[in-house]
Amino acid sequence: MKVLILNGPNLNMLGVRQPEIYGYKSFESYLEELKAHFANIEITYQQTNHEGELVTAVQQSQAQGYAGLVINAAAYTHTSIALGDALAAVSIPKVEVHISNIFAREPFRHHSYLSAHCQAVVCGMGLLGYHFALSFLEGNEKNKEILG
Ligand code: DQA
Repeated sequence: MKVLILNGPNLNMLGVRQPEIYGYKSFESYLEELKAHFANIEITYQQTNHEGELVTAVQQSQAQGYAGLVINAAAYTHTSIALGDALAAVSIPKVEVHISNIFAREPFRHHSYLSAHCQAVVCGMGLLGYHFALSFLEGNEKNKEILG
């Protein structure tokens, strides 16, 4: 099973950026832990600071054979109708992740243009949110095998 993890703007600065909110670990080092734990999942990781690149990556994900998508669009979550539309256009299971609890932060972070087009949303669990997102997608795939 192939899963795409897509991270948006400024998430390349994890570990350095506001560590009191986002933690002290880089995503690259956490990714190694994820890959070791989910050895049966072929994880592809992509990070970009550009909205259009996120849209294109979402559009292509299904045709590229991904069984699921984990997306943290960072600030574009709260602004990008284009990204919401792209998610609506692909029918693989999608999980929206936020490291911080966006509902406990500034009001402009309380709305997401993505949530309505995702099967699940995880927020406020730190990097562990990506673990739970993968776990959900894995369970989803197993259910498909069982239920047909
Ligand atoms: C974030 C929350 C967003 O509001 C913020 O713009 C980010 C990261 C999170 O993972 O908590 O860049 O998506």
